Formats: sequence, structure tokens, C-alpha cells
Amino acid sequence: MTETDKPFRSYLTGSATRPEPAAPEEEVFEQTLRPRTLAEFAGQEKLKQNLAISIEAAKQRGEPLGHCLFSGPPGLGKTTLAHILAHELGGKIRVTSGPVLEKPGDLAGLLTGLERGDVLFIDEIHRLRTVVEEYLYPAMEEFQLDILIDSGPAARSVSLPLEHFTLVGATTKRGLLTGPLRSRFEHAARLDFYTSDELAQIVERSGRILDVAIDADGIGVIAERSRGTARVANRLLKWSRDFALVKGDGRITGEIAGAALEALDVDDVGLDEMDTRILTALIDKFGGGPVGVNSLAVAVGEDADTLEEVHEPFLIQSGFLHRTPRGRVATARAYTHLGIAGSPPSADNPQEHLFDS
Ligand SMILES: Nc1ncnc2c1ncn2[C@@H]1O[C@H](COP(=O)(O)OP(=O)(O)OP(=O)(O)O)[C@@H](O)[C@H]1O
Ligand SMILES: [Mg+2]
Repeated sequence: MTETDKPFRSYLTGSATRPEPAAPEEEVFEQTLRPRTLAEFAGQEKLKQNLAISIEAAKQRGEPLGHCLFSGPPGLGKTTLAHILAHELGGKIRVTSGPVLEKPGDLAGLLTGLERGDVLFIDEIHRLRTVVEEYLYPAMEEFQLDILIDSGPAARSVSLPLEHFTLVGATTKRGLLTGPLRSRFEHAARLDFYTSDELAQIVERSGRILDVAIDADGIGVIAERSRGTARVANRLLKWSRDFALVKGDGRITGEIAGAALEALDVDDVGLDEMDTRILTALIDKFGGGPVGVNSLAVAVGEDADTLEEVHEPFLIQSGFLHRTPRGRVATARAYTHLGIAGSPPSADNPQEHLFDS
């Protein structure tokens, strides 16, 4: 990766997989645009309907909502939903993440501070350490903490009651969650990529909040090329706004948006420079595959986890790449899209469900 393409690539990488924490202005930007209520949250209709029912039922019974798990690729709205839940339930939210909780004591501190109806949000919950995870089980199930006092022969375990809270977990890799943890969630939902229409709603709403002059064509161009991802749509809007200011008269038209995205190497279906590099390497260097994810990652100079969690889901969803038991394979659509002569290898056999997380 060269220095020059770094800032532009960052619009894709989500917090869950980003090695370094998000820049503060980036956080502020996301928070400004984050919907506060289910009604403001675009798309994911089925998930929203079911959540609304569960929230309403919990309210009518006067009980806290059952624990919820949200999974899906970065930037689709998992963190946003956790905040919305707390808001809709009228409780506070405490936010932490799997890798931050190093020992049971870290978790105990958070849990004992919760009041009835509060939300504890654990991001990247697939990265919880085993000792912390096992400590979480009785808290989730019986709302109690088992604390070990003293050591040696005097050691005894004391149970500490907790208030009834709602745990919300988020993960980009549901397949890495242990069975016992997964089974303790009452609600588990997978977020899907957004349609162009849904992304258009998101861009329009964000445009209003940021007070950007953007016409229907401009909205359409950004929505079409946001790889089905809300975060990407917002970032492309922000970039187009800057581009329009410097290269145009400040208004985002279809033409300006097109030129802005071209400057970022985002192509007409939303593939960015790294997506294209992945497909090109797969075809040129590995004869279209099958090739293992690690070899592919080395060939494109990207981290294997980022490749798997950030880039592949969209490439698979839009039919450019398959995961097979023997590795990644380019599809006929990838050859056509890149204008490369030849055809995909005969192993082009869609079996991604085998590896689906
Ligand atoms: N359905 C939606 N409607 C409007 N805006 C959305 C929606 N979903 C997400 N967003 C916006 O997209 C941005 C990213 O969403 P969020 O942080 O919730 O993603 P995430 O799934 O938690 O990603 P990661 O896996 O990287 O943590 C937020 O700024 C939020 O405003
Ligand atoms: Mg998140």
C-alpha cells in the first residue's frame, strides 16, 4: 500500500477490523449521522419488525429485553442498533469490546454498574477470552456473578446478584462464537447488505443532517456505488461534498458524484481499488483460483482478516467471487467486469455456505 492511497482506502475499513482505532473526527462524523430510533434506521425491515415486537412485548410485561446478537460485515449498523435498543428501552448503554476485556474483573466492574433495563454492548464479541466468556454465562442466564474470594484452602465462591440488563453482542464473524455463548442469546439477527433504494434513503438523510446540496442524480450515483454498506455511503457522501466544494460549485450532482468517486478509484459497481486488486490477482496470479485466503492476502498486500471480513462478503454477495472448500475462485462475472479474456476455472462451484460465518 502506498502512502497516497491510504486516506482514501480508509472509507471502507470498519472499526471492527481496523487495526488502529478510528480517528476522533471519524467517530464524531459517525455519531452525528447515527440514527437514534428504529424509525430512523433504514432497511433491514424484517429485523426491525421483529425487534419492534420484542421491545414492545418486553415493555408491556415490564421486563428487560432478552439478550441480542447482531452479526454481519462492517458498516451495516450493528453498533447503531445497540444504541437504538438502549434508547427505545429507555435505559443507559455501557460500551465495551471483546479484546478490551482482559480478565473477569474487567467484566465484573461493568456488570455491577448496570441498572435494571440497561444495555451492555460488547462489540467484537467473538474475540472474548475464554475466562471472561465463562464468567459471562451466569450473568446472562441467572443475572448473578460468581466471585472467588481468597485463594488456597480458604477460597470460597460468593454469588453476587446483578440487575436485569440486556446484553447486546456484535460480531463480524458469527462462526467464531462458541456454541454455549451463541445459545445464550434470545435474539440473533444477521444484517444484510442494503439495496440501492435503502442506501439512497440513507444518503438523503445524511445529506440533510450535514446540510449538503445534493440532487437526486447525485444521491443515486452514491447509493449505487456504496457496496451495499451504510458506512461507505456516508463516507462517499462526505468525500463528494469536499470534491464538489473544490471542483464544482458546492452542489453534488450526478456528474460531480461520478467524478468524485472516480477520483477514489471506486468503479461503476462500487468496487474500490483493493477489491479490484483482489480479483485481478486471483485471475492473473492464480489462474482464477482456487487459492487460499492467506496466499491471496499476501499477493495483494492486505491483511488476511481484513480481506475476509471487509472485502470478501461484498465480492461474494455481488457474484464476483466464490468460496469453495479448496479456496477462493473468480467467477465469470469477475472476468467480464475486469475485461479479462478467459474463463473461470472449472472448480467454479458455489459452496460458500460451507464456510459461511
Ligand atoms: N440502517 C441505517 N440507516 C442509516 N444509517 C445507518 C444505518 N446503518 C448504519 N448506518 C450508519 O453507518 C455508520 C456505520 O454503522 P455502524 O457503526 O453501526 O456499523 P457496524 O455494523 O457496527 O460496523 P463495524 O462492524 O465496523 O463495527 C453509522 O454512522 C451509521 O450512522
Ligand atoms: Mg460497530
